[in-house]
Amino acid sequence: MPENPYRQIEKGEAGRIGWRIHYLEEIDSTQRAGRELASGGAAAGTVVIAERQTAGRGRLGRSWHSPAGVSLYSTTILRPKMPLAKVPQISLMAGLAAADAIARVAPGLVALKWPNDLWLKGRKTGGIIAEAVTDDKGELETVLLGIGINVNLSANDLPEELRERATSIRIATGRVCDRIEVADSLFSSLDSRYMELLASGFTPMRPAWERYSALTGKRVAIVNGGRRVEGTVRGVDDEGALMLDLGARLERIVAGEVSVEGAYA
Ligand code: BTN
Repeated sequence: MPENPYRQIEKGEAGRIGWRIHYLEEIDSTQRAGRELASGGAAAGTVVIAERQTAGRGRLGRSWHSPAGVSLYSTTILRPKMPLAKVPQISLMAGLAAADAIARVAPGLVALKWPNDLWLKGRKTGGIIAEAVTDDKGELETVLLGIGINVNLSANDLPEELRERATSIRIATGRVCDRIEVADSLFSSLDSRYMELLASGFTPMRPAWERYSALTGKRVAIVNGGRRVEGTVRGVDDEGALMLDLGARLERIVAGEVSVEGAYA
């Protein structure tokens, strides 16, 4: 086993996020490793971090570029007592926690593109995936919350096809930062926001989420399944759905891929 550089930031009582951090030098995906640990009985709050992923997974079946030594690839095991339909609120909450953590090293630059892309200067620096595991009655058992943040990646670490759309904290600020510190802020913010979500739902964190929103006031097109709608974003509601102004009426969008006029999408 490689030495675990994240052991120094493990904290809190059993069950709190980040109380135990497993560290792997290389794995296909921390989502798979987390799923295996969870099915073996790992407690809620356990985190898996890999130095490098050979098959990092993004949302919508995409891959997540995961070179060694420059970024943060983590999966957190959660066992929330909530209906399956509320799992998207976990990823919104995680987006907010990650934005707060990134804002500490890149103040004033972070934005959230609904539902949970993390942007710096209009390019993607991080992403979130929440995979639900259900029991044989179809009830929510575990959520595998995957967070990828490009920390010290340089433009040369990015494949050609990502250079226009992706960035990192280092590219955006011109400064190399300590990944352990970023991880420490991330898991602390995640732990407190998660507790807040369990106790009071998304509503109290909605204003904080809105302050980071890259889309509010923007004209966007949203594709979900075969359907495409265009409108102006008016914000998110108490459940975290996107409120889209279609002119004649407001539509509540609960899922979909958003493209923004005049910006990378
Ligand atoms: C997205 O924006 O599409 C979500 C990206 C999520 C990437 C992270 S990296 C750590 C964890 N392991 C994975 O395979 N994916 C997530």
